[in-house]
Amino acid sequence: MASASLLKSSPVLNKSEWVQGQTLRQPSVSVVRCHPVAPSALTVRAGAYTDELIKTAKTVASPGRGILAMDESNATCGKRLASIGLENTEANRQAYRTLLVSAPGLGNYISGAILFEETLYQSTVDGKKIVDILKEQGIVPGIKTDKGLVPLAGSNDESWCQGLDGLASRSAAYYQQGARFCKWRTVVSIPNGPSALAVKEAAWGLARYAAISQDNGLVPIVEPEILLDGEHGIDRTFEVAQKVWAEVFFYLAENNVTFEGILLKPSMVTPGAECKDRATPEQVADYTLKLLQRRIPPAVPGIMFLSGGQSEVEATLNLNAMNQKPNPWHVSFSYARALQNTCLKTWGGLPEKVGAAQEALLLRAKANSLAQLGKYTGEGESAEAQEGMFVKGYVY
Ligand code: 13P
Repeated sequence: MASASLLKSSPVLNKSEWVQGQTLRQPSVSVVRCHPVAPSALTVRAGAYTDELIKTAKTVASPGRGILAMDESNATCGKRLASIGLENTEANRQAYRTLLVSAPGLGNYISGAILFEETLYQSTVDGKKIVDILKEQGIVPGIKTDKGLVPLAGSNDESWCQGLDGLASRSAAYYQQGARFCKWRTVVSIPNGPSALAVKEAAWGLARYAAISQDNGLVPIVEPEILLDGEHGIDRTFEVAQKVWAEVFFYLAENNVTFEGILLKPSMVTPGAECKDRATPEQVADYTLKLLQRRIPPAVPGIMFLSGGQSEVEATLNLNAMNQKPNPWHVSFSYARALQNTCLKTWGGLPEKVGAAQEALLLRAKANSLAQLGKYTGEGESAEAQEGMFVKGYVY
């Protein structure tokens, strides 16, 4: 028994050892000897797509570039169009998305674009496939594969994210259509708990989605959005974020997900939107980087933050503050509202404003590109770009 291993036995407790259902008396530890066992057959993912996944993730996480999130569902896109007085028709959605993807030189700042299913199969107003325009710009096409949030029965008014049924075949079809990465957004609400159930459900769902996506050649963006809603301070956000990311990585590992072939889309660690104590970009960066250092393995190539209702300028300043020193990961952006807001308003649905709207998009894309490199100064930003975009209970 020269190589026998030492294991602690599981102590058997009787009910009297529970104190008020919470504290457990420290049991005495006995030691047992076990026979050596053959190494277990651990599953290690070595799928057909592994090399390609790693390459795709590296391309998206390339220096000075980030993701343009333009994957608003038709319902959400309708709200955006309504804000500029346009009807939610396919033609209007197509016109807007044509404007975005054909902004000249967009690929200098944008490495990936997340599309809604309609857009992945759509052409521009002049008949070119949107996917082809992106590729010509050096932008990797991505696809939102989740099916949205629904109430989580048995929770404290929280939600869970649907979409696992049929995900493998949908992902394979999206790959055929040109998508190379995907996104799944689930949410965690701090004012509603979050309950242990909601956190576990979010983490498990993300891990199953990530494994299925990798099996079908798509780099999964893992996005447990910790909503800005609430009056809590930054310390509470930090505490919840640590819990959420611990569970997410526990289940990603259990599902044999290749960490080198994923991208993360976290919320920055900030105070709740209704908290009176605001945080400076340096404080947001300190808390957020501490979270990443404690929870995210350096094998993960890219951390692509969401903007979550921050103003355009705030999101850029916070990202810039995080890139003042080198990080083990590419720390960048995957913004929707913080890239598109001024662009959409400038356009206003008018054909003669397309050029000006594209310039507005490029201005934000360039500012965030500089922030990815830690070189953004914030000079010359308009008052409009500094207006917050937080919407209580926002659905994407
Ligand atoms: P925002 O940057 O508007 O929060 O969008 C996040 C998102 O998940 C879009 O894909």
